[in-house]
Amino acid sequence: MTPVRSRDDEVGGGARSNPAIGRRLADRVVLLTGIGSGQGREAALLFAEHGAHVIGCDVDADGAEEGAARFASGETQSAEDWTFTRRNEGNLLFFAIKHVWPHLKHHGGSIINIASTAALAGSATLPRAAHSAAKSAVIGLTRQVAAEGAPFRIRCNAISPGPTATPASQVAIFSDPHHPMRDIAAHIPLGRLASPLDVAFAALYLASNEAQYVTGANIVVDGGYSAVLPGAPLAEPTRSPGAE
Ligand SMILES: NC(=O)c1ccc[n+]([C@@H]2O[C@H](COP(=O)([O-])OP(=O)(O)OC[C@H]3O[C@@H](n4cnc5c(N)ncnc54)[C@H](O)[C@@H]3O)[C@@H](O)[C@H]2O)c1
Repeated sequence: MTPVRSRDDEVGGGARSNPAIGRRLADRVVLLTGIGSGQGREAALLFAEHGAHVIGCDVDADGAEEGAARFASGETQSAEDWTFTRRNEGNLLFFAIKHVWPHLKHHGGSIINIASTAALAGSATLPRAAHSAAKSAVIGLTRQVAAEGAPFRIRCNAISPGPTATPASQVAIFSDPHHPMRDIAAHIPLGRLASPLDVAFAALYLASNEAQYVTGANIVVDGGYSAVLPGAPLAEPTRSPGAE
């Protein structure tokens, strides 16, 4: 387990707390996986600032040496890497939901699964057979859990981030000067990669009472990447990339 610390220097997305909104998860108990780094860590910090009692776990408390997914094409993906990726990105969610279910049945609650834009479209530049398959399964599982949970006031939603600046993506993509995804920000309509905080804010909404009528949804947090066809913009940008 990793201690939840406060940190003020954030990448994109602005300040974590918004005093006008207040403590949106006051006295809630939140169980988070993967809080050692990246989006899980950011969600743990944000949820704690909004009053939640955060319980978290990670296989590597100091942050990811290696991501949860191994990227390869369908042609080259080894059986071992296929199984590794499906286990980390699919089985982990299933077992977490399965074992928390008896508790949630009595109290209701909100389950938030992290999918990906990899579930929404194939990629010509990033080979990711197992990852795309696993993330598509996350969205399918989310909808089924929403159906089975509704009678018990259990909501279940997914978030699909686009390319996000985390330690895992730094290792997988941006540490390689020749990686075809390196210039990806130039193709994102809002002009930058997501920050972990961008994704954590969507999770904060889904965990809060403000989302009490939202279940079975998949919130896409990708700067318009999967909604806008590629091509040169008609107008020059009026703001620098990253400006809010
Ligand atoms: N980074 C991106 O560009 C991006 C884009 C879309 C979706 N996502 C998804 O967002 C989520 C978070 O991704 P991330 O980039 O922050 O890094 P990540 O998923 O690789 O790792 C985040 C943390 O999870 C931990 N972890 C890995 N396997 C674990 C396991 N089996 N049990 C417990 N902890 C484990 C790691 O040690 C690390 O600290 C993942 O589900 C990822 O697929 C990431």
